[in-house]
Amino acid sequence: MRVLIAGGAGQLARAIRETWIDHELIVPAEASFDLGNPESVRSAILEARPQVVLNAAAFTQVDRCESEVERAMRINGEAVRWMAEAADETGALLVQISTDYVFDGTATRPYRETDPTNPQSVYGRSKLLGEHSAALAREHLIVRTAWLYDAWGKNFYLTMRNAAAQGRQLKVVDDQRGTPTTCRALARQLQVAAQEGWRGLVHGTCGGETSWHGFATEIFRQTGIQADLSPCPTADYPTPATRPTYSVLDGAHRCELGTDLMPDWREALGEVIGIG
Ligand SMILES: NC(=O)c1ccc[n+]([C@@H]2O[C@H](COP(=O)([O-])OP(=O)(O)OC[C@H]3O[C@@H](n4cnc5c(N)ncnc54)[C@H](OP(=O)(O)O)[C@@H]3O)[C@@H](O)[C@H]2O)c1
Repeated sequence: MRVLIAGGAGQLARAIRETWIDHELIVPAEASFDLGNPESVRSAILEARPQVVLNAAAFTQVDRCESEVERAMRINGEAVRWMAEAADETGALLVQISTDYVFDGTATRPYRETDPTNPQSVYGRSKLLGEHSAALAREHLIVRTAWLYDAWGKNFYLTMRNAAAQGRQLKVVDDQRGTPTTCRALARQLQVAAQEGWRGLVHGTCGGETSWHGFATEIFRQTGIQADLSPCPTADYPTPATRPTYSVLDGAHRCELGTDLMPDWREALGEVIGIG
C-alpha cells in the first residue's frame, strides 16, 4: 500500500515507520504538510495520491491547548476535515488517531465505542471534532488510544526513567486509571487493521489497567531501577487541563473486527525495556 503519514516526527509515527516496512511510506516534513494550512494538507495528499492517509499528527500538548483554543481546534479538528475531503478526492482510506480524552472519565467500567462522549478539556473537544471530521471521509477508520509511550519521544515512561536517574523524589498520581500503550503495539495493530479492511470507530489500547503510580512502579520493577517513588492524589498536582479520572477503553469491538494484536500492558512494557 502507498501510505501518507501525517505527523511523521511524532512518537507513534516513528513506530509506524519502523513497523509498516512492507509498504511504500510517504512522510512529508511538517513544512510541506502543515495542519494549520488547508492548501498544504490538500496539495500534499493530491500530489502523493496515497491509498491510505494516516493522521498521527496532532497538537498534543494538552495543557497548552487550554490557552490556545483556536490552534487546537484547527489542528486537531478542522484539519482532519481537509484530510477527509482530499482522501475522498483520491479514493484513500483516512485513518485518524483519537484519544480517551473524548470521555469525561466518570465511568466505572471500560468505555465502549458506543458510550457517549463528554470531553472535559480543550484537547478532548478538539480531538472529538477530529473524530467527527474523519467520519466525513467515505472510507475512514478512527482509532482511539491512550497513555502512549515508547523508548523514544516525549512520554511518561522516559520521564520516569530520566527523573529516577537524576535521583529525584517522585510523587505520582494514583487516582487516575487507564492503560499504558506502546506505540509499537499500536503500530502493528494499525497495520493489520488497514490490511484487514477495518472501518468505523474502534478502541486501540493495550490490555489491562493501572494508575500512573502503578505504571511507574512497574517500570522500576521491570528495569530494576531504584527510585524514590510515592503515590499522590490528582489534587496535589493541579494542571490547566482536566484529565479523565478513569479512561480504560474496552477492546471487545476490536476482536469483532478482526485480528486483535494488543498485548497486556505489562508485557508490552517488557518489550520496550528489552530494546530501550
Ligand atoms: N501521547 C498520548 O498519550 C496519546 C494518547 C491518546 C491519543 N494520542 C493521539 O495519538 C496521536 C499520536 O500522538 P503522539 O503521542 O505520537 O504525538 P507526538 O509525539 O506529539 O506527535 C505529534 C506530531 O504532530 C506534529 N504536529 C503538531 N502540529 C502540527 C501541524 N500543525 N502540522 C503538522 N504536524 C504537526 C508534531 O510536530 P511538533 O513536535 O513539531 O509539534 C509531532 O511530530 C495523536 O493523534 C494524539 O492525539 C496520543
